[in-house]
Amino acid sequence: MIRLDGKATANTIKEEIKEKVSAMKIRGERVPHLAAVLVGNDGASLTYVGSKVRSCEYVGFESTLIRLEETITEEALLTQIDALNKDEKLDGYIVQLPLPKHIDEEKILLAIDPKKDVDGFHPANFGRMALELDAFIPATPFGIMQLLERYEVPTSGKHCVVVGRSHIVGRPISILMSQKGLAGNATVTVAHSRTENLAELTRQADIVVMALGIPEYLTADMIKEDAVIIDVGITRVEDKNHPKGYVIKGDVAFDEVAQKASHITPVPGGVGPMTIAMLLQNTLLARQWNLA
Ligand code: GUN
Repeated sequence: MIRLDGKATANTIKEEIKEKVSAMKIRGERVPHLAAVLVGNDGASLTYVGSKVRSCEYVGFESTLIRLEETITEEALLTQIDALNKDEKLDGYIVQLPLPKHIDEEKILLAIDPKKDVDGFHPANFGRMALELDAFIPATPFGIMQLLERYEVPTSGKHCVVVGRSHIVGRPISILMSQKGLAGNATVTVAHSRTENLAELTRQADIVVMALGIPEYLTADMIKEDAVIIDVGITRVEDKNHPKGYVIKGDVAFDEVAQKASHITPVPGGVGPMTIAMLLQNTLLARQWNLA
């Protein structure tokens, strides 16, 4: 069994980006600049955004953290977004989700200039991705494709069952893996909460991508021998024995499934760490595309 080590792969990608940024500096070019907008004080969001900003510093990017009050109006946030769209010294930015309930998330995401949408959440980027045009691909599916590619996991002609149809993971990964190219050419089935006889489907799969959000849902009896297992789940499960009071669980019952799988991503340390690396990669792409 091969562990698809997302932490190590993410570190390799960050080193590659760092080298490219050093070369840009030597050539006297402006380095990529990412901004993150954080509304309010949600604990998990603060952790994620802090980690994104630190990673920017690590690879040599410029970064700006814009913190806004929980009570900001939708109109004021849209004004802020307009300013970011117009800022020529900024290559890309993200608006950390979730937003407070009084703000219409869709309206905000639609206001982001697709050329700066390094999260890849704007419909223009989703459409471009689906049409195989240059696009910002959302960090999680982009990270999964990189893991499959870098570990040279065979996907061509294989049956991949994606469990979950979210707009930022299940749906895009099902499109990407069915496209031509590396980590592509798979025959993809999308399963979801209404799917009947899920285990019958997953047992036929050469590759299972679990993006359901139910801890340890996929058990060994649900997969075939030597299947490739990608676990996108990250759920906090209460654990009084742990100093934090919780542990992070994936959608896969790791210990038993690992015995039967040919390749598997652990949680934590699998798909999760890849997401920040791919956000940095998208920011580097934004810098390059905006030059062109
Ligand atoms: N909240 C949780 N994950 C993400 C992400 O990838 N991007 C943004 N903007 N918000 C998030």
